[in-house]
Amino acid sequence: MIVLGIESSCDETAAALVRDGRHVLSSVIASQVAVHHRYGGVVPELASRQHIEAIDEVMREALSQSGLDLAKVGGIAVTRGPGLIGSLLVGFSFAKAMAYALGVPWVGVNHLEAHIHALFLEDRSPEFPFVVLLASGGHTGLYYVTSFVSMEMLGQTRDDAAGEAFDKVAKMLSLGYPGGAVIDRLARQGDPGRIRFPRAYIDKLNLDFSFSGIKTAVGRYIAEHRNDYRERVADIAAGFQEAVVDVLVYKLVQAARAKGCRRIALAGGVAANSRLRERLKREAADEGAEAYLPSPALCGDNAAMVAAAGYHLLGSGRRSGLADDVFSRKASGDAGSFTKS
Ligand code: KG4
Ligand code: ZN
Repeated sequence: MIVLGIESSCDETAAALVRDGRHVLSSVIASQVAVHHRYGGVVPELASRQHIEAIDEVMREALSQSGLDLAKVGGIAVTRGPGLIGSLLVGFSFAKAMAYALGVPWVGVNHLEAHIHALFLEDRSPEFPFVVLLASGGHTGLYYVTSFVSMEMLGQTRDDAAGEAFDKVAKMLSLGYPGGAVIDRLARQGDPGRIRFPRAYIDKLNLDFSFSGIKTAVGRYIAEHRNDYRERVADIAAGFQEAVVDVLVYKLVQAARAKGCRRIALAGGVAANSRLRERLKREAADEGAEAYLPSPALCGDNAAMVAAAGYHLLGSGRRSGLADDVFSRKASGDAGSFTKS
């Protein structure tokens, strides 16, 4: 079955056609970075307006790149939340209307669950069960995945998400928005051992995260070295990134050990981080485990992952209806395929 995926939870308007939750026929992403860049972050009102302007064209482009017409679409999957309400509403209403007009089944998808499905779009994808670290701009957590539609949460951040810490530190260093990719690049020119920032393990057996402390520590360093920190920006970036990566990799490996699982994976925007990818591959080899990483293009927000998740949800009988609505926060909405341990 061919599923049309639609994503509009934050600052990317995306549409994709995916066959059988596995083969990407087309994937189109219209980024709004140019619009939000000057404000140093996403401006929600501007984001919704941009989605409205882009969505029709993005969907048509995805169809045209796939070489298919609408009659071939067997189902529609759309991000329901978490995300910015105004942004989500654009994609969700668009998908609702399309499904109604085409007379095909449709389903709202949890955005976090969709990120995990990016793993299944690669030629080499993990078998079940596996443990995955999902690190994005809005969320960071660990999950034990036992099927396409069952994911047990093992731990999550108690405050900031890892990507959020990257973005905030980039802002403190005046590196612009979004910050993750810039810090990643800059860190390659720095020494990760020169400035040591704290590692927030909480306690070493716990699988929760906390990233607000490291953000404060970087802020304090900048304040204490007001006159010369600019000469050390690459070392600050490298030191900060190393501290975050240490904790992420440590907890992912701990989670896999706790589950006796030898397959470990990454997902979400932060999974594009080159140091995290390198470290995970090395640690997995040391553990005798297999590492699975989505290609960088599939780590960030895209609609192919939404279509993949939707394919499996539709296959398991899940349907959304015209009365359904979007949700902004994890706690307030549709838990999707997630359960708590
Ligand atoms: O998954 P995503 O595209 O959107 C959300 O669902 O939040 O994640 C975006 C986050 C941003 O915080 C961004 O700074 C971060 O992913 N990010 C990175 C890298 N590329 C994107 N963080 C670290 N290193 C990168 N290379
Ligand atoms: Zn995302």
